[in-house]
Amino acid sequence: MTHTDDVAASPDGGRPRVVLGVTGGIAAYKACELLRLLTESGHDVTVVPTESALHFVGEATWAALSGKPVRTSVWEDVHEVPHVRIGQSADLVVVAPATADLVARAAHGMADDLLTSTLLTARCPVVVAPAMHTEMWEHPATVANVATLRERGVHVLEPAEGRLTGADSGKGRLPEPGEIFELCVDVLARAATGGDHTSLDLAGRHVVVSAGGTREPLDPVRFLGNRSSGRQGYALARTAAARGAEVTLVSANVELPDPAGVKVVRVETTGQLRDAVVGAAASADAVVMAAAPADFRPVSVSEAKIKKVGDGSAPPIELAQNPDILAEVARDRVRPGMVVVGFAAETGDDSGSVLELAEAKLARKGCDLLVVNDVSGGAVFGSADNQAVVLAADGERVEVPHGTKTALAHVVWDQVARRFGA
Ligand code: CTP
Repeated sequence: MTHTDDVAASPDGGRPRVVLGVTGGIAAYKACELLRLLTESGHDVTVVPTESALHFVGEATWAALSGKPVRTSVWEDVHEVPHVRIGQSADLVVVAPATADLVARAAHGMADDLLTSTLLTARCPVVVAPAMHTEMWEHPATVANVATLRERGVHVLEPAEGRLTGADSGKGRLPEPGEIFELCVDVLARAATGGDHTSLDLAGRHVVVSAGGTREPLDPVRFLGNRSSGRQGYALARTAAARGAEVTLVSANVELPDPAGVKVVRVETTGQLRDAVVGAAASADAVVMAAAPADFRPVSVSEAKIKKVGDGSAPPIELAQNPDILAEVARDRVRPGMVVVGFAAETGDDSGSVLELAEAKLARKGCDLLVVNDVSGGAVFGSADNQAVVLAADGERVEVPHGTKTALAHVVWDQVARRFGA
């Protein structure tokens, strides 16, 4: 898949200009992949590594991958005034990986090398993807520096958990380059459409998103399931995190990389999905049910693989109905002002049109918003795009034109944010 269609042009109509700042951490090699994703999708990328970054990945690699000369010092090509020009002309600056040192220097407005000078002169969106040891990330100095940057509208990603340098593991890993790339594209697109790219309007909110399709086991090797890819739920989780929310993503059988800065809880069955969503909802400001839970489960799960019988008959499977998680969360709202959102993929039938059936479902489930996909024509499952109508219990109806799942996710969060506390 190429991402070229998603690329927002620079205000002057040219290719979007991205500055990729790289600092001296072992994850610097992962920035090569981010650089490749950015250039292959049509971005004009200038790499600004720090002196220490060059100990990990050399200048030749950055120059070859970006197709441009690479500078680290303000004392090269002085006549071009690079310490001012690079930041001034950027549409986006992304620093990945960002060390604790870079985070500190940026928070204090230092300008002691080309990268920090660029950060100080840039007026475009800034994305910072920190990577460091857990102790450094949790140190009060770093916590305060990250808070300062976020207050100024910088998108500081939460690091991922996992293996760090040496034998250590914990929180501090650089999120996957593909995830940082998606966030950059999203932030650029919001800025290009006049949206407020610095708006962290979900900061201080805890949101729960479910994604994927549940599986109900029949025997040790078989299950009843569905084709949900989880892409819409992952787009919702990623965009909520980009807008500052603390996000719990309850993920059922999804084969996508973890969105950056999101807590992922993996489940398999509808029962497990229910327990995870209801548990997380206790401290949530919003719950968005983008998952496709199986409505039925086999009454009993065979311990041994179900065998064919000689007479050619098929074994009967008795089914029991699963709990309706959306209806339960909407009914038992723990927190006042909590916003509950459902999704419905509908086809019209003899009993009513798509929107009539959706209005009835909105009322039946008791949720605040229902995102309705008309799937009469097929082709929503697994695709990168979506088209929808958002119905609200207060009577509002928002048509979302055909576009990416990321664009739809932003519309959903716009609607959720407007209803907080209402
Ligand atoms: N949902 C849920 N629990 C279920 C089934 C569905 O929470 N057991 C949620 C889905 O995540 C979605 C919404 O309910 O947000 C609508 O899903 P849909 O399958 O359309 O609802 P159903 O109640 O199964 O309606 P239908 O009878 O039309 O299949």
